[in-house]
Amino acid sequence: MVKLFVCQVCGEPYLGANIDDCPFCGAPKKYLNKIEDYSKLWDVELTPQEKTDMKDTLNLEINAAAYYKKVSKANEKYSKMDRLFKQFARVEEEHAEVAAKFLGVEEPELKGEDPKGSPQKDLERTKELENTAVGKYRKFLKNASSTKVKKFYDALIHAEQGHAQIASDDLK
Ligand SMILES: [Fe+2]
Ligand SMILES: [Fe+2]
Repeated sequence: MVKLFVCQVCGEPYLGANIDDCPFCGAPKKYLNKIEDYSKLWDVELTPQEKTDMKDTLNLEINAAAYYKKVSKANEKYSKMDRLFKQFARVEEEHAEVAAKFLGVEEPELKGEDPKGSPQKDLERTKELENTAVGKYRKFLKNASSTKVKKFYDALIHAEQGHAQIASDDLK
C-alpha cells in the first residue's frame, strides 16, 4: 500500500509502498518517516563552530550543484551522463537548500566550476569533489553539538559516498 513519507533531512514528501534512500537528498532510508514524526531539521540555533562549518558546506554544495548541472547540459540529452549529472545536481541543490535553511539565509545563486571537457575527466573530478566533501563532513559531524546538525552530516556523508561510488564505478 502506498503511504506518505517525509524525509527528516530535507523535509520533502514521498509517496510509496517501500522506502529507499530519499530520492531528493539521498538521505538513508532510516530518515524517511511518517509525517506525524516529522520536525524541521534546521529548527536549531547553530554554535559558532557549526555556523562556520555550515557556511563551508553551503559553498561546497553550491559549487557541486552548479558544476553538475553544467556537466549534464554538456552531454547529449537523455544520455547516461546527462541523466546521472542531472540527478547529482538535484541532490546537491537540495543539500544547499537545507544548509541555507540552517544558516537562515536565502539559497545563493548556483555558481561553480566548468565541465572538464570529457566524461572521463568529469567523473574523475566528481570523485574528487565527493571524496573531499565526505572528508569534510566527517570532521563537521565530529564538531557538531546538536543532534539535528549531526543527522544532517550523517545523511550527507551517506549521499556523497554514494556519488563517489557511482563516479568511480563508471570510470572502470
Ligand atoms: Fe531527503
Ligand atoms: Fe551534497
